Amino acid sequence: MLQYCYISSARPGQPVDVDEILATSRRNNQQAGLSGLLIFDGRRFLQVLEGEGAAVRSTVERIQADPRHRAIVKLSERRIEAREFGDWAMACNRVADAGDSRNLASTVDALTEGVADANTRALFRSFARIDRAA
Ligand SMILES: Cc1cc2nc3c(=O)[nH]c(=O)nc-3n(C[C@H](O)[C@H](O)[C@H](O)COP(=O)(O)O)c2cc1C
Repeated sequence: MLQYCYISSARPGQPVDVDEILATSRRNNQQAGLSGLLIFDGRRFLQVLEGEGAAVRSTVERIQADPRHRAIVKLSERRIEAREFGDWAMACNRVADAGDSRNLASTVDALTEGVADANTRALFRSFARIDRAA
């Protein structure tokens, strides 16, 4: 299996409809046998996707062509023996809780509890704690 991780930035000035991304991704990823996690902190995305190599690659190609984000940077691409993210999930700071980074941090902590790789776990947990006011 392949695990792919990237970071990107939402297009400035264009509100992101996270519910729409979530609904589409749930549907497609389930069908393609993909698991993973997407975090949106109001400005940046961090996503990990895992599953069969061909399914991960074709999904990543589609995501890369999506005009809702830019500056997409691959953080890692590696072979894995077992899934680290059992389900597909998304965590985000919604507009209503903008600034409540504690909420995002605890959600991401819970979602990454079962992640075996310490680096991957640390990456997600520190992303969820970035102080966006800085
Ligand atoms: C940050 C971000 C993450 C996304 N993640 C996924 C994903 O995990 N799976 C997926 O199918 N589409 C994802 N999408 C949406 C795709 O870019 C694309 O719009 C969608 O797959 C098209 O699906 P459809 O042809 O079924 O409408 C994501 C989009 C963005 C902006």
